[in-house]
Amino acid sequence: MRVFVTRTLPGTALERLAREHDVDLWPGDLPPPYGDLVARARHADALICLLTDRIDRALIEQATRLRVISNVAVGFDNIDVAAATARRIPVGNTPDVLTEATADLAFALILACARRIVEADRYVREGRWRTWDPSLLLGMELHGATLGIVGYGKIGRAVARRAAGFGMRVIYATSRPADVSADPARGAVQPQPAGLDALLRESDIVSLHVPLTDATRHLIGAPELRAMKPSAILINTARGAVVDQPALARALREGWIAAAGVDVTEVEPVPPGDPLLDAPNLTILPHIGSATTHTRARMAGMAVDNALAGLRGERLPHCVNPDVYE
Ligand code: GLV
Repeated sequence: MRVFVTRTLPGTALERLAREHDVDLWPGDLPPPYGDLVARARHADALICLLTDRIDRALIEQATRLRVISNVAVGFDNIDVAAATARRIPVGNTPDVLTEATADLAFALILACARRIVEADRYVREGRWRTWDPSLLLGMELHGATLGIVGYGKIGRAVARRAAGFGMRVIYATSRPADVSADPARGAVQPQPAGLDALLRESDIVSLHVPLTDATRHLIGAPELRAMKPSAILINTARGAVVDQPALARALREGWIAAAGVDVTEVEPVPPGDPLLDAPNLTILPHIGSATTHTRARMAGMAVDNALAGLRGERLPHCVNPDVYE
């Protein structure tokens, strides 16, 4: 059968796929333009796609042969899952394998913002380092600081475990019942639930770990940023649209909050000239939360496993719309 894969993937998973199926691999190192995506999907029995590919209702309706859509990501806001479900096409994702890598990156941003790492590196390279100075580049001490985690799923809890090691107080806000089985080990101070308003008011650092849905789009806008402490730091490794980006740029410019670290933006790549790029005290990364060699190879492997199962007519190992099997 024919599998359209929208970008080459790290590791050996695609070789495994090619041993069983005809692989149509998009040759570019940029995403296929929408027209090409639709044209190739129309001839495919399976689609392995990335979060950069818009898999919308129009595409799904034209891709009449599709038996499975397999996203190489845990998030799936790029896919119209309702449209896929209506055609009884299972949609796969890659949960769990990227939890620790993404939590590491959230912590890298926390440390970078709290200790002004990017600014300090520039300071040295610009030849401005004249002496050890007791007042130079003072930042926030993590030990004893309060970390507010918004979204207490697997990644949020993995961030909480790291924070326990740093001696931080952790509070979290979640709209779902929290599974606290993976909370920091006994002996460490346990994270405490809080409402979002209280969390925003009390936290020294707010870190976002919710999926992008209609309910979380612009969850953090001007009122929420104004509710944070002027000394606080906002970290976003979730999805750019969870934050109202112009409001964030303004919050940084006008000092509503002290700093932000973002791995994701509303439009990716962030367009040149976007006000966020001119905002002070911002550390910005090109969506590399899961970008370790180990994790990306495992994500590719899971995506191929999902596609193979779908082509065999079996239940996907990781399916986001299991109602297709009812
Ligand atoms: C990355 O952002 C993912 O959803 O896997």
